[in-house]
Amino acid sequence: MCDCDSTVSSGSNIAKPSGVGGDGEILDPACDPNNPKKLDFSRVALAYVLIRDGIQKTPCLLAHLSKITGMDVYIKCEFMQHTGSFKERGARFAMLQMTEEQKKKGCVAASAGNHAQAMCLHGLKLGIPITTVMPVIAPLMKVQKCKDMKGNVIVQGENMAEAKSIALKIAQDTGAFYVNGYDHLDILAGQGTIGIEVLEQVPDVDAIIVPTGGGGLIAGIATAVKTLKPSVQVIGVESEACPGFTNSLAAGKPVLVQTKPSMADGLIVPVVGCNSVETAKGLVDRMILVKEEDIAVGILRLIELEKHVVEGASATAVAALLSGKLDQFIGKKIVLILSGGNIDTTVLSRALERGLAADGRLIKVYAKVCDRPGGLTELTVPKLNWYWKLGIMDMWKNLRRS
Ligand SMILES: Cc1ncc(COP(=O)(O)O)c(C=O)c1O
Repeated sequence: MCDCDSTVSSGSNIAKPSGVGGDGEILDPACDPNNPKKLDFSRVALAYVLIRDGIQKTPCLLAHLSKITGMDVYIKCEFMQHTGSFKERGARFAMLQMTEEQKKKGCVAASAGNHAQAMCLHGLKLGIPITTVMPVIAPLMKVQKCKDMKGNVIVQGENMAEAKSIALKIAQDTGAFYVNGYDHLDILAGQGTIGIEVLEQVPDVDAIIVPTGGGGLIAGIATAVKTLKPSVQVIGVESEACPGFTNSLAAGKPVLVQTKPSMADGLIVPVVGCNSVETAKGLVDRMILVKEEDIAVGILRLIELEKHVVEGASATAVAALLSGKLDQFIGKKIVLILSGGNIDTTVLSRALERGLAADGRLIKVYAKVCDRPGGLTELTVPKLNWYWKLGIMDMWKNLRRS
């Protein structure tokens, strides 16, 4: 499920850009598609100084993936933040930028997961009251985690669009500060601190690969990296299920895309952020789309090779690598941003099954068994032999294909 808060008209999958009025919809003045703003590096630098005592400087490790790809592959472990994702960076910086008067009134956010948890944790740490509106489809575990961090959690709205409308209404009624999780400039600045850290940790990096949803993460990182070391390529990855940022960069402004369900649920945003697109234009070198099957294999490889459990969004970066779309970097150094680790156990088990099947290591055999005496023997001896051979042949074909 998407962690972001793009506006989707209720009852359909058709979205309008955030900030667009009509039908009594409340506008978010910080994210106005008619007046998009560009992030400045000085804001990222300020965020870097201000948040460093309150978030983890996550490790950036040489990965075992290097051996199978012929590149020096580093993984930036943002899933090691306390709430399991990079979202804490932007959330903390946005709150630190509030006036004392605003802090008393608190913040309001709409999110189904990572942004909500990040807001609740840093609200608790900074003594700022947080209200998060979570749609009814938000996983109970994530709702509970926000409550455990003393968030005022309102579970309302059929989808993220409805949750966002409710959150904006609360902000209007109470004077609380509404924080868009992927398009407020302070959020972009906070996420951009990852770019500064990567350049410190791997100074001779050739490319940074960034999972992309609403665009706040890639816009922030691209601003930092292209200011400090313009030769480093910044490459975004999305699932084929939602090419929102790819299409929007091509159009030069946010455009609506029809989405499909994806294992990278955090990246499914029908209309990306207007400030994010405005910022990323001309800074992002390339966007890559990956298949769902490759995301599953990415999750599997990270567990088997690196011993890291990540969510689908993070695994898109590995999927881009394993699908050969980054082969231009063979012999070079790349950093994959592993942006989050909050994967439901049910989703994880499905992803592993799918990944093993794609690898040709899991075979399902369907057989009719006669319920008369001897039926099982008949199945197990000659038929199973036959199915087994078939299975081996399928596996062999799959292995040759991969
Ligand atoms: C784990 C994870 N990775 C990447 C992203 C994409 O971030 P952005 O929406 O800023 O592009 C998200 C967004 O929620 C996320 O939760």
